[in-house]
Amino acid sequence: MGLTDNQQRLIKAVSENDIIAAKKYAIACVTEDTTAKNKWFCSKYKGILESTGGNLIELPHDLKGLLYMEDVSNSFKKGRYFLSDREKNIYENIIRMKKVNEKLMEIGIPYVNSTLLYGESGTGKTSFGRYVSYKIGLPFCYLNFSHLVDSYMGSTSKNISKAFSYATSNPCVFMLDEIDCISIRRSDTSSSSGSGGEMARITITLMQEFDKLPNDVIVIGATNRIDRIDEALLRRFSLKHEVKVLDNREKTEMVQQYLNDVKMKFSDEEIKSMVENNSNQSMLLNDLIRRISLKISEEII
Ligand SMILES: Nc1ncnc2c1ncn2[C@@H]1O[C@H](COP(=O)(O)OP(=O)(O)OP(=O)(O)O)[C@@H](O)[C@H]1O
Ligand SMILES: [Mg+2]
Repeated sequence: MGLTDNQQRLIKAVSENDIIAAKKYAIACVTEDTTAKNKWFCSKYKGILESTGGNLIELPHDLKGLLYMEDVSNSFKKGRYFLSDREKNIYENIIRMKKVNEKLMEIGIPYVNSTLLYGESGTGKTSFGRYVSYKIGLPFCYLNFSHLVDSYMGSTSKNISKAFSYATSNPCVFMLDEIDCISIRRSDTSSSSGSGGEMARITITLMQEFDKLPNDVIVIGATNRIDRIDEALLRRFSLKHEVKVLDNREKTEMVQQYLNDVKMKFSDEEIKSMVENNSNQSMLLNDLIRRISLKISEEII
C-alpha cells in the first residue's frame, strides 16, 4: 500500500522541521484512518495533538518558561469565541496592514503592524490575540511581562532581547501581554525605589527591540493600565484600541454561540440571569461552565 497524500505531507514537514505543518498533517492522518484496528490509537493521538499542550512548539532550552510558542490552529475554539463588531474592525485593520506591509517590505520600508489593546481585566484581550493568530494561520508567540519581571528581575533586559530575537526569526503573531508591568512611565520612576532605574532600562530595551522588528511580525500588546505606559512606547503601536465589556445583547449571543458549540440548551430565563449577573466575559464564561457541569452531573446521577 502506498503513502497517502497526508502521510507524504507529514514526512515532508518532519524533514523540513516544520512542526506546525507536521502536527496538522498528523491530525489529518489519524482523522482519515477509520479502520477498526487503529480506532484506539487514532482517537488517543488526535486528542493529544489537538490539546493545547500538544500544540506548544518546542523552544530552545534557554527560552523555556520565558516565551510560549503555540500552534493555535486546533487548540483555539473558534465556535466558542464571540467577536464583537468593535474587535472585528480591529481584526480587519490588522489584515489590511498585513497586506500593506508586504508591499512596504518589497520596497524596503520598515513598518511594524502593531496594535495595543487596553481595557479592564476579563474582557478578552489575550483571547483576541489568539483569535488573530488562528485566523491568520501564524504561530502564536506569547511573552508575558508580569511573569518575566516576577521570575527574572535582574536579567529582564537580556531576556527581552533573547525572546524578541527568537520570536521574530519567523513570521508570527507576537503577543506582548501585561506590558504595563515593565513599562512604568520613565518620568514616574525617579521617586520609586532602586527598581525604578532598572524599569527604565527595561523599557528602553523593549523599545530598541521594537524598532528592530521585521515587517512580517504582527505585534499585539495588551494592558489593563494604559496610563502606566511610557509615551514613547505607546507611540510605537500604530493602533490603540479599548476592548470594552460586552453589552447584554452581545453577552447573550456569546452564551448562545458557546452552547451551540457544545450542543447544549439552556432556557431563556437562565441565559438572561447569567448575562445580567456577570459583569465581564471572564465571569460570564466561568458561570456558564459551572452551570454546564451542574447540568451534566444532574444528567449522570
Ligand atoms: N469574546 C469572548 N468570547 C468568548 N470568551 C471570551 C471572550 N472574551 C473573553 N472570554 C473568556 O474570558 C476569559 C478571560 O479572557 P481573557 O483572558 O482573554 O481576558 P483579558 O482581557 O486578557 O483579561 P486580563 O486583563 O485579566 O488578562 C477567558 O476564559 C476567555 O475565554
Ligand atoms: Mg490577558
